[in-house]
Amino acid sequence: MARTILTRTALAAVSVASLVALSACASDAGGEPAGGGETTGADDGVITLGFSQVGAESGWRAANTKSIQDTLTEENGFELKFSDAQQKQENQIQAIRSYITQGVDVIAFSPVVETGWDPVLQEAKAAGIPVILTDRAVDSSDETLYESFIGSDFVKEGEMAGEWVAEQYDGEGFKAVELQGTTGAAPAIDRKEGFESAIEGTDVEIIDSQTGNFTRAEGKTVMEGFLNKHDDIDLVFAHNDDMGLGAIEAIEAAGMTPGDDIKIVTIDAVKDGMQALADGKINYIVECNPLLGPDLAEIAKKVIAGEEVEKRIVVEDLAFDQESAKEALPTREY
Ligand code: AHR
Repeated sequence: MARTILTRTALAAVSVASLVALSACASDAGGEPAGGGETTGADDGVITLGFSQVGAESGWRAANTKSIQDTLTEENGFELKFSDAQQKQENQIQAIRSYITQGVDVIAFSPVVETGWDPVLQEAKAAGIPVILTDRAVDSSDETLYESFIGSDFVKEGEMAGEWVAEQYDGEGFKAVELQGTTGAAPAIDRKEGFESAIEGTDVEIIDSQTGNFTRAEGKTVMEGFLNKHDDIDLVFAHNDDMGLGAIEAIEAAGMTPGDDIKIVTIDAVKDGMQALADGKINYIVECNPLLGPDLAEIAKKVIAGEEVEKRIVVEDLAFDQESAKEALPTREY
């Protein structure tokens, strides 16, 4: 049975806001001040928030940065300190340490990779500065190191992509190649896992898989390599739109028709990806909603006020085929 394709109207019904998966309350729930027992700041009524962004690798990231910068404004009670880590963990660690030294009220960040965060998060905790994760999770056994994680369910996104592929192409012996996101990043690990589990038991086979680092340029280069190596590629699963758009360029340069000779499935649903879907160059896109600014602002205010916050806030994502992409494009926010 085909997965239900929701339109933009349906998205409005779901609401931009997140669905809350209440796994547990924050470690500071119940009146304890956040960040390891010391009193948190914002004495002047303005919340100083230090945000360490992954980089500017994709259209999704640009939309996510805009959402954060548009929401955490002076009018909304924030002083935002923003830094771009250029997809390097060491830059993020340096930025977080600098925010600790500056004594910001809250630190938020989207971790470029999953592991290796405990020492710097322990430093923030010791300094009494609460940390909020956005977009990507950290792999840590100590959940007291952060207050809340706001972001999509990446495993589910991979599953949604894989389920559609299974529904459309099982029985046709499809050979697929995979353009993975940044090695070690939560969305790369989880989307791969979700996709593989959804195609398990079908005759869709992943014949090659390599990282394209979530960028259009690397997606194109890796796809060129796949095309040189294999002459039987039926489908590309790209972990984001940008790499899928790079793959389109490589496929066209090789004299083939993307979306027809080689099917393409991606994740994100940013405008450029949606346009390619509407044009028939991409076949299916699973959304990853980047508009996390409002949820971040709300959680930061609650944490500073000593209120209870949800440990995990799951952002709801839709999926689009060509028809629903055409319908959604005129009012697409990002
Ligand atoms: O973490 C979200 C992912 O990061 C988006 O899918 C991708 O486009 C971005 O670079």
